[in-house]
Amino acid sequence: MAAIEGENMDWGMSNRLSRMIKPSTGRSVMLAADHGYFMGPTHKLENPRRMLEPLLPYADTVAVTRGVLRTSIDPKWDTPILLRVSGGASVLKEDLSDEEITTSMQDAVRLNVSAVAISIFVGTAHEKQSLVNLSKLVNDGEEYGMPVMAITAVGKELEKRDAKYLALACRLGAEIGAHIVKTYYCENFRKVADGSPVPLVVAGGPKLNTELDVFNLVYNALQEGAVGVDMGRNIWQHEYPVAMIKSIRAIVHEKATVKEALDIFQESKGKSK
Ligand code: 5RP
Repeated sequence: MAAIEGENMDWGMSNRLSRMIKPSTGRSVMLAADHGYFMGPTHKLENPRRMLEPLLPYADTVAVTRGVLRTSIDPKWDTPILLRVSGGASVLKEDLSDEEITTSMQDAVRLNVSAVAISIFVGTAHEKQSLVNLSKLVNDGEEYGMPVMAITAVGKELEKRDAKYLALACRLGAEIGAHIVKTYYCENFRKVADGSPVPLVVAGGPKLNTELDVFNLVYNALQEGAVGVDMGRNIWQHEYPVAMIKSIRAIVHEKATVKEALDIFQESKGKSK
C-alpha cells in the first residue's frame, strides 16, 4: 500500500489529501455520486440532494460534478469534495472513452474542492487523448496545489476488470503524476496495489446481489492494499443506504470484519433508511 508522502509535497497539496484520506487511519470512505455526468438521472440519484444529505455525515469525501455541487450540496457543509472534471460522452454512445477536461482548474479552486478526478481509458480508441488529458490536469494541479485522481475507467467493457489490465492502467495513471488512483477490486488485487506507487481506492461497480458481497469486496480490497473506497451504487441504490455506508466505514476505519459489518448493518437498518 502506498502512503501519502507529505514531506515531498507542497503544503496545500498535502493538506488537501489529508482532508480526504484521514491521517488517523490512512484510509478513506469516499462517496461517489458523479454518475450523472454520462449516465444522466441514474436510478436513485435522480435527485442528488435527497440522496446525498443523509449520507454526507458518514462520507470522508463526496465525488460530484460542479453542476451537482452548486445545486445540491449546501456550501456550509464541510465534507471534502472530489470534483469530476472530465466528460464529453454519454451512455448513448458505444464508445465512452472520447472525453476531454470539462472544468478548469480555476473553477476547481474557486469551488474550494479537495481534489479533481478524471477518467483514463487505457487500451481504447482514445487512450492517448485521455492520458494527455490527465497529464494536463496534473500540470495544472501542481501549480495550484490540487491533487488529481486518475480513474481507470472500463466503459461498458466490465470484463476488463482483471489484475493484468488494472495494474497497467493504475501504473500509467501514477506514472503520469496522479496523486491517487481509483480502480476496481479484482482477483489478485494485490498485484494491482503492489504496482502502484500512489494510494488506490476501489469503486463498487454495478449493484451487487447482497450486502455480504459488498462488505467482502471492501474488506478484501483493504486487506490487499487499497486505502479505501470511492463507492456509489452499492451504497445509494441499496434499500438502506445509511446502514450500508456506516458498515463500510467500520470496515475501512475501525478494522471491522465482514461479520462485524453485517452486525452493524442489521442494527443500523432498523434505525434509518
Ligand atoms: C462514474 C464513476 C464512479 O464514481 C465510480 O464508478 C464509483 O461508483 P460505483 O461504486 O457506483 O461504481 O467514476 O463514472
